[in-house]
Amino acid sequence: MGLNPEKLRKDFPILDTKVKGRPIIYMDSACQTLRPIQVINKINEYYNEYPVCGDRSQHKLGKRVDEEIAKARKIFRKFFNAKHSEEFIFTKNTTESINIIANALKFKPGDAVLCSDKEHNSNLLQWQIKKDIKHNIFEFGNIEDFKSKLTKNTRLVSVVHTSNMDGTSNPIKEMIKIAHDNESLVLIDGAQSAPHREINLKKLDADFFACSGHKMLGPSGTGLLFGKKEQLENLNPFLVGGGTVEESTYTTHHWEPLPNRIEPGLQNYAGIIGLGEAVHYLDKIRLKNIQKHEANLNKKATDALGDVVDLISKDQERAGIFSFNIKNLTPHNIAIMLDNSANIMIRSGAHCVHSWFNKHNMTGSARASFYFYNTEEEIDIFIEEIKKLRKHLT
Ligand SMILES: Cc1ncc(COP(=O)(O)O)c(C=O)c1O
Repeated sequence: MGLNPEKLRKDFPILDTKVKGRPIIYMDSACQTLRPIQVINKINEYYNEYPVCGDRSQHKLGKRVDEEIAKARKIFRKFFNAKHSEEFIFTKNTTESINIIANALKFKPGDAVLCSDKEHNSNLLQWQIKKDIKHNIFEFGNIEDFKSKLTKNTRLVSVVHTSNMDGTSNPIKEMIKIAHDNESLVLIDGAQSAPHREINLKKLDADFFACSGHKMLGPSGTGLLFGKKEQLENLNPFLVGGGTVEESTYTTHHWEPLPNRIEPGLQNYAGIIGLGEAVHYLDKIRLKNIQKHEANLNKKATDALGDVVDLISKDQERAGIFSFNIKNLTPHNIAIMLDNSANIMIRSGAHCVHSWFNKHNMTGSARASFYFYNTEEEIDIFIEEIKKLRKHLT
C-alpha cells in the first residue's frame, strides 16, 4: 500500500500555518524535516513526566529515562537492521558522528582516506586538517575511478551515500565490497539516505554509518553514529568524561562497555527519545513508500521544468532533490522570489558542497527538497511559480 500524504499531513501542526492567507509550501526537508505531533508529544512527555538524567540515578524517574533510551536504541537497531542496539552512538548530528571517527580511528602515518568529489563539508574538512594522512578523491558514482584511487594505504573510505547537492547516489553496496576486499574500512555519510530509503546495515556491511535525526523527523541537534561492535571497541578514546568509565583512580581508569564509553557526559535525553519516536513513525509508513512518493514528485517537476531551468543533475534517481539554476538569477534570488510569491520555502547557495561547485565554476544552486508530506498540488504550484519567474526574465 502506498502512502497518503493528505492523511499524514494532519500529523504536522506547522502545515496549518498560513502566511498572507496562503498555506506554506515547505520544500527544504534535506536541511531539516518538519516534525509530526507524535514526536513533539514525546519530547513533551520527557519534560513533563521524567525530566532527569539517564544511566546514573537509581530512583524511579531515572529508571524511566533508562527504559525510554533503551527503547529508542532498539527502534534504531530494528529500523537499520543492525546486529546490536549498542552499536548506535547518540551524537548531535552527522557532522559530529564523522568527527568522532576522524579523531578516534587508529590511523598511522602514511594512511589514506578516500572520499568522493561531492562530499558535504562535514566529510571533507576533517580529512584536510588531519596531519599525517593522505586525502584522496574519486569522482562521485564512478566505480572505475574509485577502484583506481583505492590503494594499499587506504585505511578508510569515507563517502556520501546520497548527495544533498543534487540527490544522486553512490553505488555504496558495490563500493563497500570493493573496499573490504582491499582491507579498507568504510564510513557512509547517510545524512540524505537514511530518511529516504531503506538502509539494511547487515546487508550493506558498512563499518560505520552516520546520519542526522533532524533530517528524519527527529528533534534538532540529534544524530546517530552506527559502528560495528568490534570497530567501535577498537576506537581510541576521544571525547571522554562522566559516564564513560566504570571507575577511576588519580592515575587509572576502566572504560564502560559500549555504548557508554563513547557517550560522554549527560545526553540530550529528550532528543534521543524524540528521535526514537520519529524513527518509529518512519518505520510505520515504510521507507519504500516514501522513496516512491518522492520519485513521483521529482519526476513531475522534472517533466514540467526540465527544459525551463538548468538542472544540476538529470539523473533519473535523485531522491526528493530538485537542484537547479535559472539564467540571470542568483540562487538566493530564486529562493526569495518563491518565498515572496507563494510561500514556497527552498534552499539556496552551495549547500556546504563548495568544493564541487568550485570545481565546476559555479557558485551554487536553488534546491527544492521534497518529503512524504509534499503533495502533487504543491508541485503544481512550484512548477507554475518557476514558469512565471522564468517568463518575467524574457
Ligand atoms: C550529505 C550530508 N552530509 C552531512 C550533512 C551534515 O549534517 P548535519 O549538519 O546534520 O551534521 C548534511 C547536511 O545537510 C548532508 O546533507
